[in-house]
Amino acid sequence: MHFIPEEIDEYVVKHSEDEPELLQRLNRETHQKILQPRMLSGHFQGRVLSMISKIIQPKYILEIGTYTGYSALCMAEGMQPNGELHTIDINEELFDFQRKYFDLSNYGPRIVQHLGDALDIIPKLEMKFDLVFIDADKENYSNYFNIIIDKLNSGGVILSDNVLWSGKVLESEFKKDDVDTPALIEYNRLLKTDKRIETVLLPIRDGLTISRKL
Ligand SMILES: C[S@@+](CC[C@H](N)C(=O)[O-])C[C@H]1O[C@@H](n2cnc3c(N)ncnc32)[C@H](O)[C@@H]1O
Repeated sequence: MHFIPEEIDEYVVKHSEDEPELLQRLNRETHQKILQPRMLSGHFQGRVLSMISKIIQPKYILEIGTYTGYSALCMAEGMQPNGELHTIDINEELFDFQRKYFDLSNYGPRIVQHLGDALDIIPKLEMKFDLVFIDADKENYSNYFNIIIDKLNSGGVILSDNVLWSGKVLESEFKKDDVDTPALIEYNRLLKTDKRIETVLLPIRDGLTISRKL
């Protein structure tokens, strides 16, 4: 879904950084070989993630929802030379694909993959993070926030993807099996009201919220 007119969208992309060659390859191979390629952040959002990471210059980055590794590689561009990016995904079939591209990048040895349910893995991580990207199962976004907030340094940033959920967050009635929309509505309310953070929701792609820990 486009939240701004398509021609404006095109203009925005045209006047932003180009997609790096390795990420173009990753993007193409994901579309050729992997189910649900729409999940990949893509050119424009990827450049936004890269820019935010370069401004923050995080030492430790956490990503919840690796998929094929596109957003991880974008955020790694801003990581400090002695930093580490930890990325979690529950789908073991994606593991080798991710590693292939991580190793083709300049950041391979500093990207740590975790396979399993993020709710089990996050409590075992001992470092404190400067940048967190939440981009996995929508029904657990609030749970991820609650277990991550104490592992975030003061001034650290949480980025949350798909917070507009194709505009469905405006609805007040949901299909019986739709757990994601009410979960995202509750999550957006949580980010707006939690006193430990300040938050701005950007209408980028499917909605990307930036929350900064006070
Ligand atoms: C939208 S995709 C991530 C896209 C990726 N961040 C990007 O921008 O290229 C969501 C990923 O979350 C993973 N996932 C879903 N539930 C999970 C869970 N409970 N723990 C860890 N990963 C999960 C899925 O396997 C999927 O690969």
